[in-house]
Amino acid sequence: MTIHLRVWRQAGPNQGGTLVPYTAEDVSPDMSFLEMLDVVNEKLIAAGKDPIAFDSDCREGICGACGMVINGVPHGPDPGTTACQLHMRRFKDGDTITLEPFRARAFPVLKDLIVDRGALDRIIKAGGYISANVGAAPEANALPVPKPIAEQAFESAACVGCGACVAACKNASAVLFTSAKISHLNVLPQGQAERTRRAVAMLDQHDLEGFGSCSNEGECEAVCPKEIRLSNIARMNREYLRARLVGV
Ligand code: FES
Repeated sequence: MTIHLRVWRQAGPNQGGTLVPYTAEDVSPDMSFLEMLDVVNEKLIAAGKDPIAFDSDCREGICGACGMVINGVPHGPDPGTTACQLHMRRFKDGDTITLEPFRARAFPVLKDLIVDRGALDRIIKAGGYISANVGAAPEANALPVPKPIAEQAFESAACVGCGACVAACKNASAVLFTSAKISHLNVLPQGQAERTRRAVAMLDQHDLEGFGSCSNEGECEAVCPKEIRLSNIARMNREYLRARLVGV
């Protein structure tokens, strides 16, 4: 296949950027999207040109690093799929694909398709740890956790912090991320001691980082590669209201 690309090139955080056309030739349908970009970059490097900067780490759909907007959709057209797990068979010979970075005020562009998502780390840090001294692994049934609760926590913990929810939201809100991180500890018995403080601290940090508010568009859920649910946001709102009612 031959694929035409329009790629956002931006030399640095305080530089202007523009879409630059490239042509990827001999693209196998079995290539992942990132492997296709690797081939483009190898040609650029061989020609003495600056390769396209993009993030990746695991390339197995686990880490969430490969954040980019593909034809207007964070991580591309396939639901529940990170960019590294998107395959070129999803496209047709001769297609034109536009690549842009995740755009949000709280995600400054570092270079080309790479943005600084440190704001999400600072929200996690604001949440802190649980105060239980875990020590060695406890006996499995020492602290019973009902199965529905364990499943809720697990589903929320699946968030990889890629930031696609922010990039898809017209308000550049990170509440899907923040609510998942609040939920996965707040629903567990081990998370009760800091439950109220955690909800307030993480939401305050969210706002401090410059993310917008939620207006219930649902775009975040639609693009999330880990299919994190909007119900986390409803739970977060209840947790926040509860925290305020008890005076935190
Ligand atoms: S590179 Fe890790 S999820 Fe894509």
